[in-house]
Amino acid sequence: MSGSISGGRPERVWTAVDDYLEGLFPEDEVLLAAQAAADAAGMPAIQVSPMQGRLLQVLTQAVGARRALEVGTLAGVSTIWIARGLTGPDAHITTLEVEARHAEVARANLARAGLADVVDVRVGPGVDSLAALADEGVQPFDLVFIDADKPSNTAYLQAGLRLSHPGTVIVVDNVVRKGAVADADSTDVRILGSRAVIEAVAADPRLTATVVQTVGSKGYDGFLLIRRRA
Ligand code: DHB
Ligand code: MG
Repeated sequence: MSGSISGGRPERVWTAVDDYLEGLFPEDEVLLAAQAAADAAGMPAIQVSPMQGRLLQVLTQAVGARRALEVGTLAGVSTIWIARGLTGPDAHITTLEVEARHAEVARANLARAGLADVVDVRVGPGVDSLAALADEGVQPFDLVFIDADKPSNTAYLQAGLRLSHPGTVIVVDNVVRKGAVADADSTDVRILGSRAVIEAVAADPRLTATVVQTVGSKGYDGFLLIRRRA
């Protein structure tokens, strides 16, 4: 790294590092096409970054996950990363999306990825879809990724836990939000959602957890990483 980068503004440094890393670990045509379709549909550019997607894939593989659950599909970019980490002939991911037009883009992206048979995209409010899964008595999920409306994070965590087993790993996106999570006086409902879910996890004796602060092409944010041990 040149001195001008390492001595530059922090945001430039993060982005330069992600540019370097993404050059070493490039996205394939399927992911590039999924991202392009999201952009063409005018969807907000809030997908996980490529290196964050790889983290989801590595975690999914490390867990040996066969069944995954995602809350917040958007264009299906993170869905593809997680699906690519799943193990076994009956590998499956259920992903929940509140916006029908987002789900349509995601279904096309997932079909192009050859994952149409691996992924079930369900449209509707997340809490309703989660309740329906519980009512259906689905097998518990091995990995859960929560990346939807932030005020509902604790509701999604609790529903995810009901659909989990000891050993399940749960990841919650965007819990740091440029550091605003540390502001105890915040009235931003997204920050309140982050703080509530972190505090619920910290108080739950069944869970081992940490928060990893992240920087990179998506700025400064963080993942809440949880393992249900009992
Ligand atoms: C927002 C949501 C996300 O899931 C994300 O990764 C970044 C930002 C948002 O709602 O602002
Ligand atoms: Mg997110």
